[in-house]
Amino acid sequence: MTARGADAAAPALEPNPFREGSVTLDTPEPCSIVVFGGTGDLTRRKLIPALLRLAALKCLHPRSAILGVARREMTDDAFREELRSAMLDHAGEAPGSHVAEWERFADRIHYLSGSFDDPALYDALRAKLEGIERQRGLPGTRLYYLAVPPASFGPILRQLGGPGLVRRHGEGPWTRVVIEKPFGHDLESARELNRLVLSVFDERQVFRIDHYLGKESVQNILVLRLANGIFEPLWSNRHVDHVQITVAESLGVEGRAAYYERAGVSRDILQNHLMQLLALTAMEPPARFDAESIRDEKVKALRALAPLSPEDASARTVRAQYESGAIAGSPVPAYREEPGVDRASETETYLALRLDLENWRWAGVPFYLRSGKRLPKRATEIDLVFRHPPYALFRSAGIQGIEPNVLRLRIQPDEGCSFTFGSKSPGQALHIDPVRMDFYYLTSFGADPPEAYERLLLDVNRGDATLFARRDEVELAWEVVDSIAKGWETRGEPPLARYPAGRWGPREADALIQRDGRKWLRL
Ligand code: BG6
Repeated sequence: MTARGADAAAPALEPNPFREGSVTLDTPEPCSIVVFGGTGDLTRRKLIPALLRLAALKCLHPRSAILGVARREMTDDAFREELRSAMLDHAGEAPGSHVAEWERFADRIHYLSGSFDDPALYDALRAKLEGIERQRGLPGTRLYYLAVPPASFGPILRQLGGPGLVRRHGEGPWTRVVIEKPFGHDLESARELNRLVLSVFDERQVFRIDHYLGKESVQNILVLRLANGIFEPLWSNRHVDHVQITVAESLGVEGRAAYYERAGVSRDILQNHLMQLLALTAMEPPARFDAESIRDEKVKALRALAPLSPEDASARTVRAQYESGAIAGSPVPAYREEPGVDRASETETYLALRLDLENWRWAGVPFYLRSGKRLPKRATEIDLVFRHPPYALFRSAGIQGIEPNVLRLRIQPDEGCSFTFGSKSPGQALHIDPVRMDFYYLTSFGADPPEAYERLLLDVNRGDATLFARRDEVELAWEVVDSIAKGWETRGEPPLARYPAGRWGPREADALIQRDGRKWLRL
């Protein structure tokens, strides 16, 4: 990683992970990328644009091929055309999406149709892959990407276990598998899925995606903490009063009701994104900057979470669902009115909770987490709220209620971070007002951070699992979600609260934190 960015007027920089001075100087390896769910939304909106950009940045080997697999019958050309028009539709969303690169890129895209549970598909896959590998001079390295609904994970994994598709770690050219979320529906199903995955692959071949880990600003959590001398000494119960982690979305369910009705925020966001942010914030510094050392420390932080009894789950969580309201001035329907949602649905679209870590560093420092759909804006943040000074000197001068210092890590949008502290406001009288020091990626580095999927796909190619969840991490995160779900089920509490779309959640969430003498920060 290079140290740039002190100069706010720096020229726009093409974010190239292979640039001189970065820690990732390796060249990409040629491989076949098989995308199960080739006609799906994720492939069109995220995976293909990310691969295209990597190709444009010379971070995808020129011989690498992409093979989309899905049920619908289609020729290679029809598949390419479908992806091309999807890319043009979304080109406006992704600055620098390299539309011009398309023609060269499309050449390496292929398609295969079939039903995921039909053994004949896998015979055809084997033959097609061998043909592509021969034609493009590929060494047989293969990346299987499961961009499919979870019901298809099992059938695909079982069939991949058949002859000629997967080589175990260390048995010749590598095979890797990327598994999209949701990884299970609860602890038991996650364990079962882990058992199945590991009956076909070795853990070193498995890449469980949480796209939050691919976000530049999430990777910066460890850099901020550990590449600077100033922050880490403050990063504990000696100085931090509490931590707030927020994942707020203004979007609703966006046509994903069938999935969301069963998931709710607890499975959709808490189990993965929120728990990952918490682990990165709370973990101890690793001994080395490598996948296992970092994931070991994250796991230790998750293990330190105080277990939630059913009583705790009802006392320390707030669940709610949005009613009709307005987002940025436009009316939006209630969750129960969204297409595909049960009119009597009890699914939570908002969750706030308090978690505590039982360890030396964080004893006595609550972590307040919240996430919701149809909140006033999209904002993901980690805020460390610091203790007040030990002696309130300015009280003797009649000054009360000085705001605490806050270190705010803006994960998105406006990626960067800020520090808020009190300052004397100009004038003859003594007034103390909060002021802010700010770092923005855009102004400091002259470019928005790259898309998460680019970095993640690159890391799978390099075999670096640092930004992917390990088996034990996933299972520990499910333990938290399961204990909350169990509390809600057995006690029927807290009742599902309501909030109008476009507001910052229900009043009950304010009460949750106010009970401890604290308040949610304004985002
Ligand atoms: C996904 C969830 O994992 O993350 C979605 O399934 C959510 O419900 C999305 O909208 C948020 O991701 P981002 O990158 O837009 O914050």
